[in-house]
Amino acid sequence: MSKVTIVGAGNVGATCANVLAHEDICNEVVLIDIQGNMAKGKALDTWQQAPIDGYSTRVTGGDNYELTANSDIVIITAGIPRKPGMSRDDLISTNAKIVVSVTQNILKYTKNPIIIVVSNPLDVMTYAVWKASGLSDKRVIGMAGVLDTARYRAFLAEELNCSPKDIQAMLMGGHGDTMVPLPRYTTVSGIPVTELMKKEKLDTIIERTKFGGGELVNLMGTSAWYAPGAAAAQMAVSILKDEKRILPCCVRLNGQYKLKDIFVGAPVKLGRKGIQEIVKLRLKKDEMESLHKSAESVREVVEALNNMNVI
Ligand code: NAI
Ligand code: 2OP
Repeated sequence: MSKVTIVGAGNVGATCANVLAHEDICNEVVLIDIQGNMAKGKALDTWQQAPIDGYSTRVTGGDNYELTANSDIVIITAGIPRKPGMSRDDLISTNAKIVVSVTQNILKYTKNPIIIVVSNPLDVMTYAVWKASGLSDKRVIGMAGVLDTARYRAFLAEELNCSPKDIQAMLMGGHGDTMVPLPRYTTVSGIPVTELMKKEKLDTIIERTKFGGGELVNLMGTSAWYAPGAAAAQMAVSILKDEKRILPCCVRLNGQYKLKDIFVGAPVKLGRKGIQEIVKLRLKKDEMESLHKSAESVREVVEALNNMNVI
């Protein structure tokens, strides 16, 4: 049994805490936010849901990092979300300062956590947390691919009029409009999706996936939280239960896919020690080019961040 801290008790963080509590695999979930009473209140609300839904996870909250001591996993969702017209990269300086200070506070009370980063711009914030933490690159992981593939899978299920449970998919690259969904690695109960759908339709779905986050921002005036919260929780579950699930996550590539010292999405095996393996796909030339283009756009934002002297 274990302890998970979630920093940022806003839409994504509170949802993630609620989903994790329902999994009933942690002794404790702690919600931390600069708005301490709000974190305490949302934690209390989730704890009061326990007798109804039947879980034992103790959920507490506040603004005091002492509560987070000896966490196995820390999920960082603190930051400001995207508003209409804002790109993820507009968030860079505000959110970088936030995630760096959160990381420093966490490390005062937990020596060697596994950190899952959710705050945007995702790939660059994951890099910032890794850099500020001094942790192994096997223990700092960004959440994006689980969400982006979920959107892709949901759109495919809608089009094929089948259960999203039967759709498996892989996606690489940064969490942005340059992400690289991979139709060659997309199946419906083992059947290649390319056998079930015309290329034009698949291309339309891929385009919708790339802009999936923006679609929700335009509908709601702020970014999504149900699927993002559940996606971060799914990564935490794979780690806590040592499931060794292969999931698309933002990780530091250091030679794999001919990319060096850059955080971008790739398939990884997630277990109790964090990233157990970066799975190497045999990408075709065009897929590799798209991945490198996406990594390049992440690198530009990393450089912008490095010039700000925030870390
Ligand atoms: P929100 O505004 O609902 O919650 C953010 C929370 O962070 C607020 O409660 C705020 O008080 C808190 N916060 C701000 N500074 C803090 C600090 N220094 N310490 C502790 N808490 C602090 O925002 P939401 O919708 O939950 O999104 C959170 C972040 O996650 C945003 O950056 C958003 O862009 C990102 N996001 C990333 C996704 C992904 O796929 N990686 C998907 C959805 C959102
Ligand atoms: C999302 O994809 C905005 O990154 C956030 O929903």
